[in-house]
Amino acid sequence: LARGALPRDLDGRHVVVSAGGTREALDPVRFLGNRSSGLQGYTLARTAAARGARVTLVAANVALPDPAGVRVVAVESALELRDAVLSAADGTEGRSGSAGGGKADAVVMAAAVADFRPAGYRPSKIKKRDGAGPEPVELVQNPDVLAELGACPRAGQVIVGFAAETDDVLANGRAKLARKGCDLLVVNQVGPDLAFGRPDNAAVVLGADGSSVEVPRGPKEALADVVWDLVAARLGG
Ligand code: CTP
Ligand code: CA
Repeated sequence: LARGALPRDLDGRHVVVSAGGTREALDPVRFLGNRSSGLQGYTLARTAAARGARVTLVAANVALPDPAGVRVVAVESALELRDAVLSAADGTEGRSGSAGGGKADAVVMAAAVADFRPAGYRPSKIKKRDGAGPEPVELVQNPDVLAELGACPRAGQVIVGFAAETDDVLANGRAKLARKGCDLLVVNQVGPDLAFGRPDNAAVVLGADGSSVEVPRGPKEALADVVWDLVAARLGG
């Protein structure tokens, strides 16, 4: 792979990438979380920067070094991630006059966003109750950030989602693409030893125009390059 010969086709573009996995707090010491390492999102951010883009990386609980030249916004929960992604997409985040401004040209939702959060946060640590067993945890649904982006498109903005599926990967992917209203959906097959925390990844990238691009198992950089190729093609010259 000719990594030295990356095109500068994202010069002057602002892209937003979300990465990692949200944590939904139960009490001051516990949360509901997921196994996303943030590796794919960080690779996407690094690759976009190398191709000339100004990158806002919304990072949910990622234990990786900040990629050089990328603005990193750390978040914890789905609600925090939503605020950070939507304001970066609108170009309204940060202090006025800072590097933040300017509507995003593309938003890539690589983060694993928790579908549900505990209905109530307990400000004190939950204690065992002698003999009474655990109290059930009531959950409420989180907003769907990708669907919100897809439902209210900002002119010319390319919206990319990720989907991890265990069965009926392509059919589920097509249905999800339509439901979320995004331009591209990267569909990964996941299982006990696939995708999560691994340096390589196989995927198919579905387009709202009916296209589909298969990305063979390989480094996450290769998938990132395919994603930005497809985004750049949709942004035009
Ligand atoms: N996503 C999001 N907000 C949520 C949940 C998911 O923005 N509350 C985004 C993810 O970042 C990802 C895409 O939606 O890009 C697909 O996530 P996935 O969990 O596969 O889709 P869901 O609609 O949550 O469907 P499922 O019931 O299969 O989990
Ligand atoms: Ca989900």
